[in-house]
Amino acid sequence: MSEVILGIESSCDDTAAAIIKDGVLLSNVVARQDVHKDYGGVVPELASRAHQQHIVPVVEAALKRAQVTKEELNAIAFTRGPGLLGSLIVGTSFTKGLSMSLGIPMIEINHLEAHVLAHFIKTPDETPKMPRFPFLCLLVSGGNTQIILVKDFLDMEVIGETIDDAAGEAFDKCAKIMNLPYPGGILIDQHASKGDPKRFTFNKPNIPELNYSFSGLKTSFLYTLRKEVQKQPNFVEQNLFDICSSLQATIVDILMHKLKKAVAQTSITEVAIAGGVSANTGLRKAVLDMQNLAGWKVFVPKLAYSTDNAAMIAMNGYYKMRQQLFTNQAIGASAVLRFKTQ
Ligand code: KG4
Repeated sequence: MSEVILGIESSCDDTAAAIIKDGVLLSNVVARQDVHKDYGGVVPELASRAHQQHIVPVVEAALKRAQVTKEELNAIAFTRGPGLLGSLIVGTSFTKGLSMSLGIPMIEINHLEAHVLAHFIKTPDETPKMPRFPFLCLLVSGGNTQIILVKDFLDMEVIGETIDDAAGEAFDKCAKIMNLPYPGGILIDQHASKGDPKRFTFNKPNIPELNYSFSGLKTSFLYTLRKEVQKQPNFVEQNLFDICSSLQATIVDILMHKLKKAVAQTSITEVAIAGGVSANTGLRKAVLDMQNLAGWKVFVPKLAYSTDNAAMIAMNGYYKMRQQLFTNQAIGASAVLRFKTQ
């Protein structure tokens, strides 16, 4: 009998739904929320309201594109956490209602674990090159920066993580300092390609073990710009490309330093990146370069699967369904979910 899974993602500011049939992705729909642009960051209350408006049409579109009716669904996988509580509650409540009305099980998904499993998404036209276990995954997004030791589909261990800001937050907060619109990571990336990465230097953290810190970099960036703007008011506009290029190079250096350390400590050279910041051109190049420089086997996700999406949620659901790892109506959303919640 075939297995059809609906995946639902609502952890931050993207409402997404996807259909996976027998481990193959049939549709993947994302509604991005523009409402936050004027505020320089995601406003949780506005995000929850936008999820409420988007969730029904997004699920309907995913079913339609997959040419699947809701009666054909065998399970619903949903993001339980981590993320913004109000946003997570919308996806969780919707899942509970649909699961009850269709009489099918629910599968709770950890959003971070799903980002890692984005490397296993197959479509009818494409089976990507997939990492073999065990591998290391650098998960870099707007809310998280972690090095994960991936032992199996559902067996992962965080071996390093940020003690303050995430890498995506560093991009976005520095973008805000330069008056660039939210989310600034992608714009910094675009400007960086036209600038000199060595023109400015910003402080790099000195944090023990495999952990990260980005709050000092943000402060160093702010003070450097403030000092220069006092001398020359249009300093940022005149040097935008070099500033972005130097900032990006610093963030990539910080990320790569600990990733190389993790490879040295574990002797695992199979390395993947995941999460929104894995779309960054500088980071992609730095990791891919390690194939020739150090013999790593590198896995970089497609852009559609690096930012938040429901294909990865449905994929994770597929692996959990194979082990009958279902949850029930008593489940609640969790803003601070860690791995291994089953
Ligand atoms: O995983 P993701 O889509 O969702 C959340 O964590 O909410 O990651 C979003 C983050 C934002 O901080 C955004 O600025 C960053 O990913 N981002 C990038 C790029 N594309 C997205 N950062 C640097 N370079 C990019 N090309």
